[in-house]
Amino acid sequence: MAGRINDDDVKAVRDAVPIDAVVSEYLQLRNAGGGNLKGLCPFHDEKSPSFQVSPSKGLYHCFGCQAGGDTLDFIMKIDHLSFSEAVERLAGQAGITLRYEEGGYTAGTSGRGERIRLVEAHKAAAVFYAGQLESPEAEIARAFLASRGFDQAAAAHFGVGYSPAGWDHLTRFLRGKGFSDKELLLSGLAQDSRSGKPIDRFRGRLMWPIRDITGEVVGFGARKLRDDDNGPKYLNTPETAIYKKSQVLYGIDLAKKEIVRTSRAVVVEGYTDVMACHLAGVTTAIATCGTAFGGDHIKILRRLLMDNATAEVIFTFDGDAAGQKAALRAFEDDQKFAAETSIAITPGGMDPCELRLAEGNQAVEDLVESRTPLFEFALRHIVARHNLENPAGRAAALDEAAPVVAHIKNIAIQHESAVQLAGMLGVRDEQFVVKRVAQLARWARDRGGRAPQQPPRAGSGSASAAPAPAAAPPGPALNLRSPAHRTERELLKLALQRPDLVSPAFDAYGVDEFTAPPYATVRQAIQDAGGVARGGDDYLARVREAAPNDTVRAMVTELAVEAIHAKTVDEVYAGVQLVQVRLRAVDRRVHDIQGSLARLGQGGPADRLAAVQNELWVLQQYGQSLRNRGAAAL
Ligand code: CTP
Ligand code: MN
Repeated sequence: MAGRINDDDVKAVRDAVPIDAVVSEYLQLRNAGGGNLKGLCPFHDEKSPSFQVSPSKGLYHCFGCQAGGDTLDFIMKIDHLSFSEAVERLAGQAGITLRYEEGGYTAGTSGRGERIRLVEAHKAAAVFYAGQLESPEAEIARAFLASRGFDQAAAAHFGVGYSPAGWDHLTRFLRGKGFSDKELLLSGLAQDSRSGKPIDRFRGRLMWPIRDITGEVVGFGARKLRDDDNGPKYLNTPETAIYKKSQVLYGIDLAKKEIVRTSRAVVVEGYTDVMACHLAGVTTAIATCGTAFGGDHIKILRRLLMDNATAEVIFTFDGDAAGQKAALRAFEDDQKFAAETSIAITPGGMDPCELRLAEGNQAVEDLVESRTPLFEFALRHIVARHNLENPAGRAAALDEAAPVVAHIKNIAIQHESAVQLAGMLGVRDEQFVVKRVAQLARWARDRGGRAPQQPPRAGSGSASAAPAPAAAPPGPALNLRSPAHRTERELLKLALQRPDLVSPAFDAYGVDEFTAPPYATVRQAIQDAGGVARGGDDYLARVREAAPNDTVRAMVTELAVEAIHAKTVDEVYAGVQLVQVRLRAVDRRVHDIQGSLARLGQGGPADRLAAVQNELWVLQQYGQSLRNRGAAAL
């Protein structure tokens, strides 16, 4: 056992490094007045900074989650270290040699904190691998680097190395440095073999050291180099006490200062892409390591970007499909983050590394500049699925895209997106789109039991239609003797109990096609939960979760258990309910339009009249084909 650390040394360590310097390794701090600094708390989720640091007192405190303490408390909490581990970590950074009471301390003995030991093992391994890159055996690794456009200086800048192909070169090297087999196994650097002795996990591969935000190596990414290597193309460190793949971002140690300075981060897909970007001058590039970009990664970036109005995260994708998938996911995830996100698609399906090779550094910089804001990107994707040549196609595109825009919580961005949508659809009267979106949004805000004061207009709008009338009548309350309400109820029961029967048509139904406010709310919850098409085992749980309050949740449950009123519950029955609900919506809209035509009268502006008449005609055609062909016309 290592002894207790000398009290004076602890004090010296605590005073040696200013608390703001330590905290700044993890998050961006701004002036908070009165000599204090503030940032986004790393210990709980928040969007405006309540985490305060007082350099003069050497203390931090979060007014949101009440976490607080001194420098050592901060290190213990953020890196999950014990007290003595935190002292050792900080002493290492400050260059202070610690004295231990009772027993003393020698480097390499067991008993020190496990995490510290694993970090030390990784540090030694990184040096070992980097050295091996010079060996004759590593010719193939050097050739790979050269083929990707990386010279020796580039390899050195990123600490790239080579793991020898033998069974246990690293294992023996680290044993020689005093690491136990248990430590080597825990670190993920070694693994058990059939012989029962630990062997190297990475053999005959190109090695990228993966560093945490403070610059300590916590794992490796290893690329296959030889055909007789039966392993996957990339092998990463497994989950260990110091390596959590959901939380590591390759390149963050090199990029963080620039990310803070420019309020921008560029997310790429691989190790070589990070290298290529940095070398091309995009020094804010980072990548996840063998996993999708997720919530924990967002938190890390958000702490660096803070609540900055110009904060921006740019994702590069080497294919439209991948980019679109990611874009659509954005609406399910963190909206605040989505609003700060842009997408850049590389030309010709190249990744940034290939782009740099083919077209040079400038092309990589241009790629980043060519980005499209995520919301716009997603809208383009929706709109592209429809034929904008005819009014029905434009109407359908609007019907699908308007709720998406209405979903955007930031009013300024929502408005901007609505105007953009009008442009994409080629609608001259952009106010029509803006109002429709605003209505959907207002209604969504008001939802939750209370009847909306201004329910959205019914039916499918048209891209070329006149503005919706300003004062709409309030929606009717739930009335089960009303045939409209009864079919809406049946349709919702189907959507909840048999999503397969109404998918995917149901997901295109506007919330406003449900005239009873409680039903509209349930429809919204289904949408918020990802829609019927997404389905899955936890579908109902998700819908219940998405309900804005207990009243709606109870309604969801009720509709999920109430028997469906049909002898045979099948596609035919589902189709009838779908058609009935849609048809009523179309008829309501036709009625509205006839009203506005009457108001416009013969003296109205000719282009307005023509547009309205055109929409009327399209809707009547649609209604007719629904009556004639039923579900086939949906
Ligand atoms: N990746 C992974 N496991 C795999 C394949 C890929 O973890 N089996 C991750 C790695 O982080 C890799 C990134 O996905 O860096 C991108 O993969 P890919 O584009 O296939 O590789 P490149 O890095 O572009 O390598 P190369 O140039 O040889 O294709
Ligand atoms: Mn790639």
